[in-house]
Amino acid sequence: MEFDVFTLLPEVFPSYLETSIIKRARERNLINVRVHNIRDYTHDKHHMTDDTPYGGGGGMVMKPEPIFEAIETVLGAEPNLPIILLTPQGRVFDQNVAQELSQHPRLAIICGRYEGFDERIREHLVTDEISIGDYVLTGGELPALILIDAIARLLPEVLGDPTGAQDDSHAMGLLEYPHYTRPPEFRGWKTPDILLSGDHAKIDKWRREQALLRTLKKRPDMLEKTELSKADLKFLESQK
Ligand code: ADE
Repeated sequence: MEFDVFTLLPEVFPSYLETSIIKRARERNLINVRVHNIRDYTHDKHHMTDDTPYGGGGGMVMKPEPIFEAIETVLGAEPNLPIILLTPQGRVFDQNVAQELSQHPRLAIICGRYEGFDERIREHLVTDEISIGDYVLTGGELPALILIDAIARLLPEVLGDPTGAQDDSHAMGLLEYPHYTRPPEFRGWKTPDILLSGDHAKIDKWRREQALLRTLKKRPDMLEKTELSKADLKFLESQK
């Protein structure tokens, strides 16, 4: 999968992209991330990418010309390519949105700085606006890395484990069940016997119930949107 990121701060990206799973995914050509400096597409003496807002008021606004030119130069006329603007005004990113975006072979991601974007960028260039949550950051660079990370790990083969992202918290609409590893007892705190029993049917049932219980306690809102079996509903009823 190809990611084209447009930013005024390209130096933010390499350290994360050269780390761990994302680094390996890039080395194996499962993903390719190209980072483009919007400033390279300015033509004035001062390489201006922002300007004062018409109508006055504080803050600076990102100018349309460099962003249009950057996108058009890099992407050409590729049809149906999502051009995503990262902004607190966008639809909120979650596992479903990550899943949806992971179906595209290529994504363009625009990171903002300053107070905002010239509205013509929104109206005539971008095809999607995404927020990573209801808070305001100084720019879209961290959100871009979050999108790339969450999407990349959904792609086949990116995670070493073939069951990959299937059991993740959120992937199945529930928070994930608790995990334990060696030692079986640590400071007097024991691993639940069932996990050491070797009885995989019982372990699966216990994990499902723990996932339901966790979600009920920590994120009851998620239960409303998840498909639950009769056995799930009976278990939840017994916990009330
Ligand atoms: N830029 C600034 N804040 C943001 C947010 N919450 N999500 C996406 N992009 C942003």
